[in-house]
Amino acid sequence: MPVNDYKYLKEKILGLTGVDLNAYKEAQMKRRIDQLITKKGIKEYSAYIDLLKKDRDAMEEFLNHFTINVSNFYRNPEQWEFMDKEVIPTLIKRFGKSLKIWSAACSTGDEPYSLVMALSKHLPLNMIRIYATDIDKTILYKAKRGIYVEKSLEDMPKEFKTKYFTKIEGKELDAVAKEKGNEDLKTLRTAWKINDEIKNRVTFKQANLLEPKDYPKDYQMIVCRNVLIYFTEEAKDEVFRRFHDVLVHEGMLFIGSTEQITGYKDMNYARKNSFFYERID
Ligand SMILES: C[S@@+](CC[C@H](N)C(=O)[O-])C[C@H]1O[C@@H](n2cnc3c(N)ncnc32)[C@H](O)[C@@H]1O
Repeated sequence: MPVNDYKYLKEKILGLTGVDLNAYKEAQMKRRIDQLITKKGIKEYSAYIDLLKKDRDAMEEFLNHFTINVSNFYRNPEQWEFMDKEVIPTLIKRFGKSLKIWSAACSTGDEPYSLVMALSKHLPLNMIRIYATDIDKTILYKAKRGIYVEKSLEDMPKEFKTKYFTKIEGKELDAVAKEKGNEDLKTLRTAWKINDEIKNRVTFKQANLLEPKDYPKDYQMIVCRNVLIYFTEEAKDEVFRRFHDVLVHEGMLFIGSTEQITGYKDMNYARKNSFFYERID
């Protein structure tokens, strides 16, 4: 696919979907999109755009492909240990028991549900509320559905699996897999459904991190992991500045294990460790 045409593709995608591909690292994103288009036997971006205009399934496939939804419960367990031992007790001491926490780019829900479970060690469940957002509607459907493969639960403390999940298999799983939107469950022999007592603590909403109007206000912790790695440096900086404005004084920002905020001092964050930052002004 010619490099120059990528500009054309970006403009058309912005018009059709509202997604600004300029904010994502170009080489990586172009490679992913080209792979998808080539697999479909299409040679020109213009032909692909025509397809997206008339075929809703193709549009959904595109959105799913570009969003990269990999997630799992307690991803990078050492970070969650720090969350349990240090961050949650500090937040409760500073802000009390009704904490406002936002899981931004929550994918299949593993992250916001992990937050509820981590908080449940410190607070009664009925006091816990998590706001969870993602740009991808299909993935939000899966998050609300709350059914996971065994592998997604591997890093999570064992006690949570017994306490907060129910195993589904056989006819029950077959029946669920037959419902529209659940095709991904068809090949599974067993799956794990998160219990309502955890599920009901999370409110999911579609929101775009590149849209200033999609940002909420006055949060005490933001968890945003493994999404900004796909953004350009400029887009990333912009998001970190907006997060700063969302956080209250001494609110915390939790990022992924391979990420960092380069100009954090200029943005008025203090670095607590390599993945926790705090608003200082
Ligand atoms: C790799 S997943 C990360 C999930 C989870 N935070 C974790 O660390 O396991 C990245 C998520 O970012 C979402 N995403 C990508 N671009 C976004 C945007 N502009 N606004 C909001 N979410 C976005 C994708 O849909 C995807 O679900």
